[in-house]
Amino acid sequence: MTLISHDLGTPAPKPSSRNGEQTEVEVTIDGVKISVAEGTSVMRAAALAGVDVPKLCATDSLDPFGSCRLCLVEIDGRKGTPASCTTPCSPGMTVSTQTPKLERLRRGVMELYISDHPLDCLTCAANGDCELQDMSGAVGLRDVRYGYDGDNHLSLGKDTSNPYFTFDSSKCIVCNRCVRACEEIQGTFALTIEGRGFGSRVAAGFNGNFFDSPCVSCGACVQACPTATLTENTVIELGQPRRTVLTTCAYCGVGCSFKAEMQGETVVRMTPYKNGGANEGHSCVKGRFAWGYANHQDRQLEPMIRESITDEWKKVSFEEAIAFAAGKLQSIQSRHGKYSIGAITSSRCTNEEVFVVQKMVRAAFGNNNVDTCARVCHSPTGFGLSNAFGTSAGTQDFKSVEYADVILLIGANPTDAHPVFASRMKKRLREGAKLIVVDPRKIDLVKTAHIEASGFLQLKPGTNVAIINSLAHVIVTEGLADTTFIAERCEPSEYAVWSEFVSREENSPEAMEAHTGVPAAQVREAARLFATGGNGAIYYGLGVTEHSQGSTMVMGMANLAMATGNLGRDGVGVNPLRGQNNVQGSCDMGSFPHELPGYRHVSDDATRTMFEQLWGTVIQSEPGLRIPNMFDTAIDGNFKGLFVHGEDIAQSDPNTAHVESALSAMECVIVQDLFLNETARFAHVFFPGTSFLEKDGTFTNAERRINRVRPAMRPQTGKHEWQIVCELANALGHPMAYNESSEIMDEIAALTPTFKGVSFARLDEEGSVQWPCNDANPNGTPIMHKEKFVRGLGKFTPTPYVPTEEKSTRKFPLLLTTGRILSQYNVGAQTRRTKNVAWHAEDLLEIHPSDALERGVRDGEEVTISSRVGNTVLRAQITERVAPGVVYTTFHYPISGANVITTDNSDWATNCPEYKVTAVQVSPGRSAATAELDHPAHRLSALVRMANQIARQFAADSSLDAVKATVAHLERFWEHEMRVDLAQAVEAGSITVDDVVVEAVRRLTVHA
Ligand code: SF4
Ligand code: SF4
Ligand code: SF4
Ligand code: FES
Repeated sequence: MTLISHDLGTPAPKPSSRNGEQTEVEVTIDGVKISVAEGTSVMRAAALAGVDVPKLCATDSLDPFGSCRLCLVEIDGRKGTPASCTTPCSPGMTVSTQTPKLERLRRGVMELYISDHPLDCLTCAANGDCELQDMSGAVGLRDVRYGYDGDNHLSLGKDTSNPYFTFDSSKCIVCNRCVRACEEIQGTFALTIEGRGFGSRVAAGFNGNFFDSPCVSCGACVQACPTATLTENTVIELGQPRRTVLTTCAYCGVGCSFKAEMQGETVVRMTPYKNGGANEGHSCVKGRFAWGYANHQDRQLEPMIRESITDEWKKVSFEEAIAFAAGKLQSIQSRHGKYSIGAITSSRCTNEEVFVVQKMVRAAFGNNNVDTCARVCHSPTGFGLSNAFGTSAGTQDFKSVEYADVILLIGANPTDAHPVFASRMKKRLREGAKLIVVDPRKIDLVKTAHIEASGFLQLKPGTNVAIINSLAHVIVTEGLADTTFIAERCEPSEYAVWSEFVSREENSPEAMEAHTGVPAAQVREAARLFATGGNGAIYYGLGVTEHSQGSTMVMGMANLAMATGNLGRDGVGVNPLRGQNNVQGSCDMGSFPHELPGYRHVSDDATRTMFEQLWGTVIQSEPGLRIPNMFDTAIDGNFKGLFVHGEDIAQSDPNTAHVESALSAMECVIVQDLFLNETARFAHVFFPGTSFLEKDGTFTNAERRINRVRPAMRPQTGKHEWQIVCELANALGHPMAYNESSEIMDEIAALTPTFKGVSFARLDEEGSVQWPCNDANPNGTPIMHKEKFVRGLGKFTPTPYVPTEEKSTRKFPLLLTTGRILSQYNVGAQTRRTKNVAWHAEDLLEIHPSDALERGVRDGEEVTISSRVGNTVLRAQITERVAPGVVYTTFHYPISGANVITTDNSDWATNCPEYKVTAVQVSPGRSAATAELDHPAHRLSALVRMANQIARQFAADSSLDAVKATVAHLERFWEHEMRVDLAQAVEAGSITVDDVVVEAVRRLTVHA
């Protein structure tokens, strides 16, 4: 595997299907004969033949444009000198790329470019990584006949509005690569070339400023720019990288591959890897730029212990912390029994780390009390897809979307939550595929640049199952089902039962309209389009799973896909868009209390025996506690010890008050994390975690792709997380030891049939592989269920709609639903510690104008949100993105306390919390009814806003640099001083909230 990918100049022609036949044509280039697929450009054919044609405006990630005129060639029998990038090969073509005439023409082109370019190569940030510099050398330019004194663009200014990259217009050669990257790869259309002829220049949005334009800071234009015009600020500050490590983004479930480009132990930049299976060279703002949290001053690098959660933390050696933790856990088990402790694994950690945690629970704790944060996001996916197809994973790879004709997008907002996949989806939509969006909120994809959904079913929160049943009703009753597929691939008796069920009048769009609020005609039209529009693909997210009927809805979507024959080939399928980077992997690794790795039930004797023999221990045959059961049992006094691995349950789990009561009731809470998070407030032991830049292991993304995570630097803590877990297990009396994390993967492969063919060596050789990867599927499995389902015949299951108990009432008349925003991630522990706060400094409450008017709520002002379980305060944003009766917020800031108001209702099958539906009331200001808002966290939240205002005031009459400095001070101020020491001081009662206000203003003044 090589990290240096040769740019072939233009993309390969796309076949009609993934493995479709392509006609070959033979051409001769500089005397070399080569056969290429029809439609291949002369430039690409030349590169494949080992002949590099000079180029500037061409790159193989973009369609050819033909503007720079540097790639001219001569073709036998043709007049002139055509551009090789825009000329397709034709049979028998004979091409010359190096003739005296071409050399003269190319030098002339380069002379023009260089005569209008700053001659500061030696001090330029791109020195050594500049295609303009390379091409000057390639064409042998030694002199510029026109001199450098004519009209030029050298005095054009820089745009430094984006926190991560700089646009230096004076270096622009107007090659259009950035504009095309923004359109073709990212699909945002933020850039344009304004002006004509000599006056042409790149402009962002209408204001000509990147930050205020529609730019989403994906970095595609920076990547595409052949000069130093668009350059990462870190490269400007640090210089060119010296070494490269290939690794995987640690944010969302897309699992993008990146090159960590380093100087020693310092990251210079992260660049998306062209051969990455999930991203094919693209990125989003988080993976590309938001990695600075790894070195944030809040990062904890040493173990700490304390007897009581009111004590100060004491920094100790790893040996002392491990002995302390083991002693506490053993003491608890001796007094309360072996089932009184457990662990929660994290979907942010590697497969290897998750595997050792669940092994420690089963082998050293001696119980099955292990659960994962996937419980609170995609556990219904596992249940529903297993039931229908026999395995719990998504059916397709991401590439499959390139062959979809109708995309049914339910409860997902990919442009914010899965941006790189969203770009692939948008590209297919611009090619003509149709889109149906099912969502309570008007997400961007409903109407965005060059895309408009054919159907937008804006349903009421909590009525997904009603919609899926009415879509199925139309398909079955109008004779649109794929009877051949059903007869060949599915259980006939189950289909008969299901089709009778969905055909009932009670499931018709007309009958369901009263529940969903979606006009029946729209549902009928969408159903017909999905059933008859060609390849139909379903993509979905947490808007499906985080409901009381989450599992029912997953089964409903599986029913719909089977009924329309949309499984087992490219362009179709049922595709969960996983939230965190390793949700798939953490589930695969056996971190559910009822399943060993590979989704095998703990009651299965043969499976248990296999693990027991290798681990030399006895594994319990009864499932352990789920996360909500752990909390309930803790409150009852029977669950006393918890190891929380990389997950901030005090912030991310619903009904915060309940979670905090449970944590407070425990005798030993062990937190392993990068930061002293909210959960650590209840902890007795803190083990420092490693960032993805230090980890050595694998992540498995939403398409079951196992990607390597390679250490770009040594663990800053001195130990890998899996080593700490093994040492804790050893201290508890169960020996666990590995020399390298590759040995953990070897053990996983030995014990898990779907991983049998996986090893670090193989991943290093091939890049990535999609499970199942074993004797039956030696090359992995991009698309599942091709010939038959994993369970044999597909299973239809009736899915009666049962309205959630969380209903709007006179007291709580609005339904709150939640989601993510592009620049932030999950509870924000990482992204809030980066410059991404420039885009989203606080969570807002979206409210429809009519609901706002009725309540006297004004845009930008504080409102109190009250639910049956709690109250919080957010700033209102009045928008028609939400329908009347629905309000929406994100949950990236702890002070927003979104989970203070979410209830502990959950999915009937998996206990996945019903985050997406909470009945609330919204009232302007800090209402008198919210006495507990005087809680320090809320007072501090107000303080943060005040500090923000002061910053804006400073910024108004200051230079850009001063504004940046103020913002940087504020970030440090909020995140570190405010959150950590001031908040703790208030909690401990050593100072009052009012003292904090005075102190905050003083510190802010000093900083500013
Ligand atoms: S960073 Fe991305 S969205 Fe912004 S202008 Fe560049 S390509 Fe477009
Ligand atoms: S900014 Fe870079 S990519 Fe864009 S037109 Fe200028 S030189 Fe080309
Ligand atoms: S799409 Fe997801 S995996 Fe890819 S760079 Fe963005 S956050 Fe990382
Ligand atoms: S590379 Fe072909 S015209 Fe620019």
